[in-house]
Amino acid sequence: FRHAFIFDLDGVITDTAALHLAAWHELALALGLPFNNAMGERLKGVSRMESLELILGARAGQYSNEQKMRLADRKNAAYVRLLARITSADLLPGAVEALKAVRASGLGLALASASKNALAVLDRLQITGLFDHVVDANQVRHGKPDPEIFLRAAQALGVAPGRCVGVEDAVAGVQAIRSAGMFAVGVGSRSVLFEADRVIPDLTHFHPTDYLR
Ligand code: BG6
Ligand code: MG
Ligand code: MG
Repeated sequence: FRHAFIFDLDGVITDTAALHLAAWHELALALGLPFNNAMGERLKGVSRMESLELILGARAGQYSNEQKMRLADRKNAAYVRLLARITSADLLPGAVEALKAVRASGLGLALASASKNALAVLDRLQITGLFDHVVDANQVRHGKPDPEIFLRAAQALGVAPGRCVGVEDAVAGVQAIRSAGMFAVGVGSRSVLFEADRVIPDLTHFHPTDYLR
């Protein structure tokens, strides 16, 4: 491929944020920890263990690593249960059309997801076959905002980072794309994603060629 697009999953292709939030909320309630939905923005794109640290906040020091692993497992079990409800009807507006437009233009297409459940989500959405390559949290050492996940995706596609476009809804994700030396398309609001090269409200009317340099 001469150019490639690397898409984030959660919040770009489907809105799993509400499910992640519900699962974290359940855990916070069980632990008697304060929790509000304002936490949502900070948890976007952040790995499972880092999310747990944010939720435990000042109380993080009271738990051993082993206890934290168990808490993370508990949250994940709740999240996996919620995932069973996802179907292709949960694809965000314009998402499949955008992915197909990338393919139809002869460009490489990869997924870069901070989630260890990415393959299960793609499967539920029935879009696994659209991607030339998938990189998820099981394959990387450093989470977003580290560029590793986007660089790995570009490498797998054989496309130089300068010829790649990353598409993200999270601040940490936009920072990862920029650090990778790629063009960053933010999906959401300009006030949150001001570090992106371009910001669009959603994937409807997504034309891949608008973002190629
Ligand atoms: C990201 C989500 O894609 O994956 C985060 O935006 C989530 O909210 C992270 O914490 C890790 O997901 P998982 O499925 O590995 O717990
Ligand atoms: Mg996301
Ligand atoms: Mg993600």
